[in-house]
Amino acid sequence: MAQPDYQVHDYDVIVIGAGGAGLRATIEAKERGLRTAVICKSLLGKAHTVMAEGGMAAAMANVWKEDNWQVHFRDTMRGGKMLNNWRMAQIHALEAPDRVYELERWGALFDRTDDGRISQRDFGGHRYARLAHVGDRTGLELIRTLQQKVVSMGTDVFMECKILRLLTDADGRVSGAVGYMRPTGEVVVFTAKAVVLATGSIGKSWKYTSNSWESVGDGHAMALWAGADVIDMECVQFHPTGMVWPLSVRGILVTEGVRGDGGVLRNSEGTRFMFNYVADMFRSETAETEEEADAWYDDHINNRRTPDLLPRDEVARAINSEVKAGRGSPHGGVFLDIATRRSAEYIRRRLPSMYHQFMELAGVDITAEAMEVGPTCHYMMGGVRVDAETQAATVPGLFAAGEVAGGMHGSNRLGGNSLSDLIVFGRRAGLGAADFAEGRRGDVGADQAQVASVVDEAFAPFGREGGHNPYDLHHELQETMQSLVGIIRKGPELEEALTKLEDLKQQAAKVHVSGGRQYNPGWNLATDLPSMITTSIAVTQGALNRTESRGGHTREDFPGPDPEMGKVNFVQRQRGEHGYLAPISIAPEPLPEMPAELRQLFEEGN
Ligand code: FUM
Repeated sequence: MAQPDYQVHDYDVIVIGAGGAGLRATIEAKERGLRTAVICKSLLGKAHTVMAEGGMAAAMANVWKEDNWQVHFRDTMRGGKMLNNWRMAQIHALEAPDRVYELERWGALFDRTDDGRISQRDFGGHRYARLAHVGDRTGLELIRTLQQKVVSMGTDVFMECKILRLLTDADGRVSGAVGYMRPTGEVVVFTAKAVVLATGSIGKSWKYTSNSWESVGDGHAMALWAGADVIDMECVQFHPTGMVWPLSVRGILVTEGVRGDGGVLRNSEGTRFMFNYVADMFRSETAETEEEADAWYDDHINNRRTPDLLPRDEVARAINSEVKAGRGSPHGGVFLDIATRRSAEYIRRRLPSMYHQFMELAGVDITAEAMEVGPTCHYMMGGVRVDAETQAATVPGLFAAGEVAGGMHGSNRLGGNSLSDLIVFGRRAGLGAADFAEGRRGDVGADQAQVASVVDEAFAPFGREGGHNPYDLHHELQETMQSLVGIIRKGPELEEALTKLEDLKQQAAKVHVSGGRQYNPGWNLATDLPSMITTSIAVTQGALNRTESRGGHTREDFPGPDPEMGKVNFVQRQRGEHGYLAPISIAPEPLPEMPAELRQLFEEGN
């Protein structure tokens, strides 16, 4: 094994990922005076966080006095179909308002009510309007604010750095990470007393997704390879409204804020079909007629809900059914209409990005015409199993926050709960990692043999003759996940997907790339494939094992929820043997039990 040349950077805490969770964790560790670095694959400021456009959920009671953390907690649990880690959902609801005010103190310019308070927008599944927002660019404002804070603290930032593996010490503790710099292809090693994963999503394994190239599930995969547990991997969210046309932009997000601000869904017959899809769980809180729903929209004085704003899993499935029944739009979606319901001035003021997005990309003026929309792979509820208080993973030295962590959202996330999740648990992960780093004794070194084996594997595609093309494998992966592990799943198709994925796993270990290591997208993709395939296998295994329909996971062959399955998480790990080619085991484990005083919130009448 050749000894690679590499630089070693030594820190107390490293944070992998610079979206909302990563930046918030970085601030916390840095404020403790610890040697802290944040590492990102893109340029600082480019993160999937910006795709949470419509707002950050927090029960601030600014618009609805009746709102409070208990109602937010209950909405979140019900939205997740009770598969959530109750303590995470409770912490989230309790702490989100403070995190909004903190962001404001750090410079975030939230939209205001007429009397100057932070304005709050309606979103699906939230009983009251509770999303603090900045037009339809809320995620961007969060990133801008946090980035400024991180930079102003003098934090070390490693941009365009792809991390390949976590390093562990002889006691199994995580002790750093190894990767390469994208511009130069040079190997880089980080040693650290604590590592925070904040790597975001896995969406690039599907063909139609709101995720950009960074979302390859590398944090989920690296955690598994380091021996950590992951949970709920079958729970993938398809946001109901992505663009469907033109094909080149299919999947790009159309914010739920369009519906929050008065937009409605119609099929090809002009019918507001969502009235036909209200699940029993939401019937008492949902308007039964268009007139009733419109009365709420028009004056905001009663909070009966329009079914266009049901939780995302319900809306995505309804759209899917309309298209299947032949009542879809010309390009395989449905219509989202705000033009007939709001003035052009209102639409341009509240939804400036949507206005430009449709005008520039589709030639559609949303102040005059309906948009064509359909489900797009948007968010991963499943992820690294963490301790609710500290975000510690099941491997010492490792922490996870944001989309890479599992538990908070159960089987379906409510819109707007992502930005608040990032900030609440990013902070807690930073605290947890800082505590761990301060308590860890002795030097932390990089195991040279581990580094060498990771580097050998990463460089191998250059030397291979006649191997597979990484783009072909990625294409096949996306086709497989889209058609066999999509919004509606069936046992035999999941079995077929697993066989294909096992085959792809072997092929990905034999890819060939040409050219040099500097900014080589083919090679970069080759190094992403192991993560994408590992997470896809985990999702598919989870989907096969969860023989029921719950939240974002729908089995055509098991159409209803199974109360027994509602009591368990599916936990996956690599036992004994770790690494890309090692098998992943899966087993059900009971959910943490909710205390009686919280259970009461779900009793009839509440
Ligand atoms: O629709 C949206 O603006 C997305 C928000 C979210 O995923 O939380």
